[in-house]
Amino acid sequence: MREILYSEKMQSTRQYTQHAKVSVFAHCCMVAHVSLQIAKRFKRFDVESLARGALLHDFFLYDWHGKKLLYLHGYKHSNTAYINSKKHFYINEIEADIIKKHMWPLTLFKLPRFRESWLVCGVDKLCSLCETLRILRYDDEKAIKLLENSMQKVKT
Ligand SMILES: [Fe+2]
Ligand SMILES: [Fe+2]
Repeated sequence: MREILYSEKMQSTRQYTQHAKVSVFAHCCMVAHVSLQIAKRFKRFDVESLARGALLHDFFLYDWHGKKLLYLHGYKHSNTAYINSKKHFYINEIEADIIKKHMWPLTLFKLPRFRESWLVCGVDKLCSLCETLRILRYDDEKAIKLLENSMQKVKT
């Protein structure tokens, strides 16, 4: 998990904006943090895969606010994130599913297969909404602190 979090490529996502003033890095940390917070209440989640998949779910590595990419981004970035994740890390079946399916139902035929994928799919929408409406504001440092805290509690 920390192998991904502190990797050069993951850290490079600090430069890209996701929603409002939240970076892709902070967004991914928060999705991982909130997913772990929910998962720890149940004992039925593979928390290591959950955290790793959540961190990589938007690992597309470009600025999606560029005009040309805007319309296609929603449909294509989950696959780009999957290809990038595979290139830079070893990812298991659950992690791959989390990344590839997190945009469902927009990507209609990519239905999540694992409970970890369903959780990230839902938490991603919640975090995205809160960020877009500026209900929750967090910078990179706050997001990484929250995630570190969650990781310690679930011992990933
Ligand atoms: Fe996404
Ligand atoms: Fe996301």
